[in-house]
Amino acid sequence: KTENCSLVTRCEIGDSLEEFLTKATPDKRLITLMMCMGEALRTIAFKVRTASCGGTACVNSFGDEQLAVDLLANKLLFEALTYSHFCKYACSEEIPELQDMGGPAEGGFSVAFDPLDGSSIVDTNFTVGTIFGVWPGDKLTGVTGRDQVAAAMGIFGPRTTYVLALKDIPGTHEFLLLDEGKWQHVKDTTEIGEGKMFSPGNLRATFDNPEYDKLINYYVREKYTLRYTGGMVPDVNQIIVKEKGIFTNVASPSAKAKLRLLFEVAPLGFLIEKAGGYSSDGHRSVLDKVINNLDDRTQVAYGSKNEIIRFEETLYGSS
Ligand code: AHG
Ligand code: MN
Ligand code: MN
Ligand code: MN
Repeated sequence: KTENCSLVTRCEIGDSLEEFLTKATPDKRLITLMMCMGEALRTIAFKVRTASCGGTACVNSFGDEQLAVDLLANKLLFEALTYSHFCKYACSEEIPELQDMGGPAEGGFSVAFDPLDGSSIVDTNFTVGTIFGVWPGDKLTGVTGRDQVAAAMGIFGPRTTYVLALKDIPGTHEFLLLDEGKWQHVKDTTEIGEGKMFSPGNLRATFDNPEYDKLINYYVREKYTLRYTGGMVPDVNQIIVKEKGIFTNVASPSAKAKLRLLFEVAPLGFLIEKAGGYSSDGHRSVLDKVINNLDDRTQVAYGSKNEIIRFEETLYGSS
């Protein structure tokens, strides 16, 4: 178990992705789907790493085609889902309409994904990622984030990781992509504690949302550490890895909610809550919001229990 360890302190954990999934769930179809998505993430990581960037576009080749990396990621993920044989419908931030992937409705899954979150920061070589949520059966509307059977993100930074959570087991689990191409289990997160670290998205909303302005001023006054990349995947992942902090993306009349409930907010909400954290749209967990339309948008916060309480009270509390 220890010979493949690249991180000394994490050597006790060391299952391959397949070993881990086999112990975690009896659902062979779900295991296959998560493995296929892992294959796609590995390819996307390579394509992001070797893209050529000019202006603000980053392109890579796919067969004979030259494609922007987010469109290439989109294509690879749809292909992986077809190949898995257990995906009924899929849709993505790039193609927000249900695509029939040919898998069974009963006993199969429907998958929603953001192929490359942070496509505007690929050229600057910031960390970007893939987000996806897995729902049972053939429905991606009229359901909530809590109905997910799994959610995950692929993180393309200095290291490539696959961070996932399954309905069947507690915790959010991190896998590291090794040089030989395998995913190795390196971390579990089961608790998010308290700590003064903040990731304030959509700060332009403080201009005409005085409550958000008040919340931000609180963090500054209380000397919170600012950690914000502008990529939701690394910004939310840091809460899971450091096991503390808060991420906010709040709307205002002039700076409307931009993040998508189905493709981004609900899957990340599942990962955060499985890790022992909390989420909110200001009133309730984002996992309790019904997805009415594939491109519904919402404001959101993710973080520790006390941070989410402060978020809701500052935005909508009576004081
Ligand atoms: P996209 O998937 O279109 O690249 O969106 C990225 C998101 C999210 O990652 C980030 O938190 C947010 O956009 C930042 O938005 P602004 O650039 O508008 O501040
Ligand atoms: Mn996105
Ligand atoms: Mn995107
Ligand atoms: Mn995009």
